[in-house]
Amino acid sequence: MKVFVTGANGFVGSYVVAQLLADGHEVYASSRTGDLSSFNTNKNYRFIQVDFSDPFSLHDAFEFVQPDMVVHSGAMSKPDDCELKQSDAFDTNVFGTVQLLLNAEAYKSFFIYLSTDFIFDGNKGMYKEEDKPSPVSYYGKTKTDAEEAVMEYQHGWAIVRTSFVYGKPLYGRGNFITMIAEKIKNRQPFNVVSDQLRTPTYVADLANGIAAIIKQKAGGVFNIAGKDILTPFEMSEAVAAYLDVSDHLLSPVTKDEFKELAQRPLKGGLDINKAISELQYQPVSFSEGLTDTLR
Ligand SMILES: NC(=O)c1ccc[n+]([C@@H]2O[C@H](COP(=O)([O-])OP(=O)(O)OC[C@H]3O[C@@H](n4cnc5c(N)ncnc54)[C@H](OP(=O)(O)O)[C@@H]3O)[C@@H](O)[C@H]2O)c1
Repeated sequence: MKVFVTGANGFVGSYVVAQLLADGHEVYASSRTGDLSSFNTNKNYRFIQVDFSDPFSLHDAFEFVQPDMVVHSGAMSKPDDCELKQSDAFDTNVFGTVQLLLNAEAYKSFFIYLSTDFIFDGNKGMYKEEDKPSPVSYYGKTKTDAEEAVMEYQHGWAIVRTSFVYGKPLYGRGNFITMIAEKIKNRQPFNVVSDQLRTPTYVADLANGIAAIIKQKAGGVFNIAGKDILTPFEMSEAVAAYLDVSDHLLSPVTKDEFKELAQRPLKGGLDINKAISELQYQPVSFSEGLTDTLR
């Protein structure tokens, strides 16, 4: 199958590309910047540098690829950046997604959109697919608006909601777990939130879940997340235990003490029962994922 992947230089996109190549798909990896991967020796791999919020360039890219599937993992993904630069966040996360949908329509491509538990307000926690979004940040609002556009698409779509993704970066930027591991090893003081709940998702599991959706052309909303419910501070303690460092300088703080530009849901996390029964999704435990990340 010909799959066009956006955000290929990103953390999630890089794993999606690796998984799809392993599954034998013809992968057209795209990102705004040049190719960071080392996949170009694979005959099924091509890289396309394109800004998906530029309708003209995107049109050319789609005309060239004519994809069977689109996996849209590109985004302005940092909530604080989105809060600060709302117009850029809208252009990237909403306008960009709509441009991708318009182009996908011409080739009747199946469309998979990466979303987040940050579309919820965090009052309830462990959200199910049918729960109603109520974002508390601009990032969450852009992801909700983009989801609504995807749900209008006529040629088959899936929305993959995930939460707090971690793992060893293939290339490009790190993530919370790898950043915390550095702070712990260097005995750097750092405050970590101890009252927010998340279901941390091992990035390879997420890529597997997306591959299962592609295989089954499974339509609808799917929560693809980890199976353990943890606070960021509990995750940090697990990292310190793995590294066997007891004299680290991490301190637990509440969400109200930890000043961040964008508000985060207090009780996030996603119920993954639908993915387990319909996609045979089987995520690793947090401790297994952590071992793979830090090994
Ligand atoms: N990471 C998480 O914990 C998490 C949790 C929930 C949901 N998600 C969702 O999962 C998806 C992937 O997240 P991630 O962590 O992999 O993000 P990431 O590492 O920040 O990667 C996003 C990528 O999107 C690309 N991009 C941004 N604007 C673009 C544009 N206008 N045109 C082309 N490419 C553009 C960037 O490409 P360049 O680098 O080439 O500029 C970047 O590499 C996002 O939709 C995010 O909302 C992530």
